[in-house]
Amino acid sequence: MRYDAGNAGDLIKHEWLLRCLDWLPEGGCFYDPFAGKPEYEAIEAVRERILAAPAALRLRDAQSDALSRGRYLGSTGLAGRLLPKSSVMCFDEDGNKRTALQSAGLVIVHPNDDDGYRALEEMPQRQPTPQLVLLDPYNLLGDLRGKRLNAFWSHLADWTEALLLFILNIDPANRTAGQYSSQLLALSAERRLARCIVPPTPNSGIKGEQKSFVEMLYLPEKSVTPYSINVRCRCLARGADVVAETLGLDFAKVSTPTYSRERVEFCVM
Ligand SMILES: C[S@@+](CC[C@H](N)C(=O)[O-])C[C@H]1O[C@@H](n2cnc3c(N)ncnc32)[C@H](O)[C@@H]1O
Repeated sequence: MRYDAGNAGDLIKHEWLLRCLDWLPEGGCFYDPFAGKPEYEAIEAVRERILAAPAALRLRDAQSDALSRGRYLGSTGLAGRLLPKSSVMCFDEDGNKRTALQSAGLVIVHPNDDDGYRALEEMPQRQPTPQLVLLDPYNLLGDLRGKRLNAFWSHLADWTEALLLFILNIDPANRTAGQYSSQLLALSAERRLARCIVPPTPNSGIKGEQKSFVEMLYLPEKSVTPYSINVRCRCLARGADVVAETLGLDFAKVSTPTYSRERVEFCVM
């Protein structure tokens, strides 16, 4: 295993996910086309760090039952705690993971296909429409290389409501990764968004967070009011702060959110 479940990237991803799930309308659906498994083994260092986190970390409460069984809930496991299972739609290219998702009572979309991107492209023809989509393959920027990015993104931005993107390995010194990250931002120039970058945490002993930068992007649905986007961005900024505190990152370096035309960016670096 290259990653321990519950690493720094998972903390920011799942903290933001919990907060975003609060904003689903009554009866709303969540869709994770790169879902992994509903839960994973939790190593001791992960368990201790989450249980010792400030109470403001939503994930602490949400994970406490699972952690007491030595498990860490993934995105669909968390969503399945908050929403009816029939409102948690998911897919994974890996058949064993699909079986685990199905056994947890979650809805597998596109059971006969083998690609989450294609499943997403076919989504508009499917019902019900999800109100929140998480994009979290291992290598989003690599997968979207070349022309596919523009076509894929405009299609996605067209039909999806709120979007959460998890991007791994954002190394500011790596020009290729930086280029795709900027391209994604440019493509979403018309959308309001919240963005957060979490730097590596080299000394934790938890696999998957020593070297990687993690970038989260949140794009709310287009119909959201300026007032709500402001409230949501503040809530996500609070989530980023408490994750930084949990990770022991230097607070002096946590930047204050900067707002411009209802876009908020905060970089924890
Ligand atoms: C980072 S994990 C997902 C973790 C999960 N979203 C969570 O937060 O608990 C990425 C998953 O995407 C799946 N995956 C990667 N490329 C895929 C593709 N093209 N189509 C479908 N699934 C894919 C992998 O099998 C893996 O389970």
